Amino acid sequence: MLSGKKAKIAVLVSGGGTNLQALIDAQNSGIIQSGEICAVISNKADAYALERAKKANIPGFVVSKKGLGSQEAFEAKIKEILTENNIDIIVLAGFMCILSEDFTKAYPERIINVHPSLIPSFCGKGFYGLHVHEAALAYGVKVTGATVHFVNEIPDGGKIILQKAVEIEEGDTPEILQKRVMEQAEWKILPRAVELVSQSI
Ligand code: GAR
Repeated sequence: MLSGKKAKIAVLVSGGGTNLQALIDAQNSGIIQSGEICAVISNKADAYALERAKKANIPGFVVSKKGLGSQEAFEAKIKEILTENNIDIIVLAGFMCILSEDFTKAYPERIINVHPSLIPSFCGKGFYGLHVHEAALAYGVKVTGATVHFVNEIPDGGKIILQKAVEIEEGDTPEILQKRVMEQAEWKILPRAVELVSQSI
């Protein structure tokens, strides 16, 4: 750890923010103790994740790609917030935007993503949110799960930090499966991975 100091964490979100909530709860319960969530950045002004940040007294920021007009301007604004807040670790928790190679190269092994499948299955371009679970059910796999990995220039292609398997059950719909994968895997391994990476900084 940074000479006894906690690693400063920014969480990037786009939607409901249940993974953000899992991180906030883990910080409160001591599962995360080597890092501290200092900023939540959303690309959507109406993301419920921002409400969760507010309730936890974490500064929230909205950075809209549409409003800024280009990927470059969007990423420059995010970088500005990260720099101003001295952020060490960036967690993508349901952040539905692809970051450029320029951006990911600026933070090697400092950006963490949670993905709702066992990578390398059902990952990469087009595999996000419910689509991942639709694809798993359509293929007919009997086991799926979640993966937390470092982010590099290849979508969902960075080094794996933690994975957890989840059984598929008779009668599963994408929505039912998504909820089980979150409860049994994502909300457990994401906080653990964030603590592991915070310790290593
Ligand atoms: C989660 O299932 C997360 O793994 C997934 O989106 C959901 C966000 O939920 N992320 C991806 O698919 C990224 N490729 P949340 O906003 O409630 O955390």
